[in-house]
Amino acid sequence: MARVALVTGGTRGIGEAISIALMRAGYKVAANYGGNDEAANKFKDETGIPVYKFDVSDPAGCEAGIRAIESEHGPVEILVNNAGITRDGMFHKMTFDQWSAVIRTNLDSMFTCTRPVIDGMRSRNFGRIIIISSINGQKGQMGQANYSAAKAGVIGFAKALAQENANKGVTVNVIAPGYIGTEMVRAVPEEVLKSKILPLIPVGRLGEAEEIARSVLFLAGDDAGFITGSTLSVNGGQYMA
Ligand code: CAA
Repeated sequence: MARVALVTGGTRGIGEAISIALMRAGYKVAANYGGNDEAANKFKDETGIPVYKFDVSDPAGCEAGIRAIESEHGPVEILVNNAGITRDGMFHKMTFDQWSAVIRTNLDSMFTCTRPVIDGMRSRNFGRIIIISSINGQKGQMGQANYSAAKAGVIGFAKALAQENANKGVTVNVIAPGYIGTEMVRAVPEEVLKSKILPLIPVGRLGEAEEIARSVLFLAGDDAGFITGSTLSVNGGQYMA
């Protein structure tokens, strides 16, 4: 039986590439999305991957969404906590709404999406939890006090959860992408991207979403059981943590 993989934020950007890569590798994939019905329906039509709409910052919504996925496809054995947003701004101009939207979606979601699947993973003695952090959680980034805080927070979360579940066959790992050519990065002002970010990437280009997806596949494998609590940087050499 194919293992069931849930990818949050799995219909666009990096998440879309992860969903497709997992499906091609033989997993039964469920892709969550938050609000963009048009993109989700297009993704579903093109890939055949079922989509589930719920807000990853809402505990009850996640619980209900994940139970629906499990009743339709079976227990979630691979969880990719990928959903994330930016609300960039210098901290001295940042509003509490910008702060809390990012903390809720990018950090609270670690609780809301992982809590409903952890008991099942522990009882079956198998699980793969893969968390998409960011280079900016490792090094900090001007204009992203909210995002850097959340993305650093998920690394601490992963290390604690990895220790708690290592003896139950459940691994918890982080991937820290650098600047990948998705909509999120294209929202950075063109001038800033060209003059301040691209020159800092030794490989000399933005990354591709598929390059993150490859890393997820590696960590998701049944034969990756000795890797837990680690953070894999995929950033073109921009930051060597
Ligand atoms: N790196 C270095 N310098 C930067 C910078 C960056 N990423 N972003 C802004 N600056 C510089 C600007 O060039 C400018 O410098 P000068 O005064 O010398 O011209 C100064 O900071 C102030 O910038 P702005 O005039 O643009 O100020 P603002 O208040 O209008 O906007 C900002 C500030 C919101 C931070 C905006 O510049 C911005 O969005 N910057 C990009 C921030 C960023 O890198 N976000 C990453 C998004 S991608 C992502 O999050 C995915 C991931 O995981 C990697």
